Amino acid sequence: MSDKLIIFDTTLRDGEQSPGASMTKDAKVRIARQLERLKVDVIEAGFAASSNGDFDAIQLIANTVKDSTICSLARANDRDISRAADALKGANRARIHTFIATSALHMEKKLRMTPDQVLEQARQSVRYARNLVGDIEFSPEDGYRSDNDFLCRVLEAVIAEGATTINVPDTVGYAIPELYGNFIKTLRERIPNSDKAIWSVHCHNDLGMAVANSLAGVKLGGARQIECTINGLGERAGNCSLEEVVMAIKTRKDYFDLTMNIDAKHILAASRMVSQITGFVVQPNKAVVGANAFAHASGIHQDGVLKARDTYEIMRAEDVGWTNNKIVLGKLSGRNAFKQRLQELGIQLESEAEVNTAFAKFKELADRKSEIFDEDILALVIDESASH
Ligand code: KIV
Ligand code: ZN
Repeated sequence: MSDKLIIFDTTLRDGEQSPGASMTKDAKVRIARQLERLKVDVIEAGFAASSNGDFDAIQLIANTVKDSTICSLARANDRDISRAADALKGANRARIHTFIATSALHMEKKLRMTPDQVLEQARQSVRYARNLVGDIEFSPEDGYRSDNDFLCRVLEAVIAEGATTINVPDTVGYAIPELYGNFIKTLRERIPNSDKAIWSVHCHNDLGMAVANSLAGVKLGGARQIECTINGLGERAGNCSLEEVVMAIKTRKDYFDLTMNIDAKHILAASRMVSQITGFVVQPNKAVVGANAFAHASGIHQDGVLKARDTYEIMRAEDVGWTNNKIVLGKLSGRNAFKQRLQELGIQLESEAEVNTAFAKFKELADRKSEIFDEDILALVIDESASH
């Protein structure tokens, strides 16, 4: 099995489905360019049939972004698929991503179709799309809650029609890592032509397990594409977060042993751009991109990190785009961290006794103020020299 993992970003499609996250055409192009810099393999740029604005945005991105495959979502019908193909005409590499729900609940209550009708529509849509574009992804919506036997019939049929990627969504974020991983594995084992397609995972975060489920889909299930979004943006509790899943695979290469095209040093800029455009604030303790992700506040940790960064850092802040890690000075900081900051600020105190006095004043201040900024330290040291 290939060790190449495809990163499929759907910030501009599933991410935009997040209530309040709608983006202008220009903003979408800016994000798409940043995703290209990040070396994302596939950018799902939108859902062409959903609105003229989305069609235009996909078209513009297809004409502008040349290094990534550009994809449009389409329901499993000829009209949606033709719209997607039209929007993608200018792309160097185009993908149509077509989907139809396969769970009993969705088929009966939402689509009001019988399983045989759904199977036929899936088959016909992939056949139709395949005549327009070579790269076809098929998703059984609510796949994780679908009947196994029926799902196998549908997926075998669409692979036979030429689907090149099979994406198995956990549409409502119901999966548990081990179960989801084994689910993908079982599908791949049971479907006779399964090795003709690349298997993909698409996990929602309703129970906070989208990243864990995606990783299990890769490790236990053998999937080789992960669908994800910047900052985990997406419907309800969001999608699998790109920065987390990518850094988990990079940091634990010893376990996953996979290669990716991603250039991680553009992650932070992508996160900030998406946050600024959508107005969705990134929580400070968010892994990888949160303001505190590489900040050290306790004295013991600061001392450790100043001696050897590996003591409390499993990845380098610089590798994901931060200028460096951050020693946050506050009441928990130790003398060592304080002294280091004095040096960084170019402050040369005459003797260790002076350092001790300044440190005592700093501790006093830190009891009154939650974070001590460089300006506070400067003021404190200037006061100190003035009093001599
Ligand atoms: O969550 C989902 O099922 C989807 C599909 C359209 C792939 O986003
Ligand atoms: Zn989704």
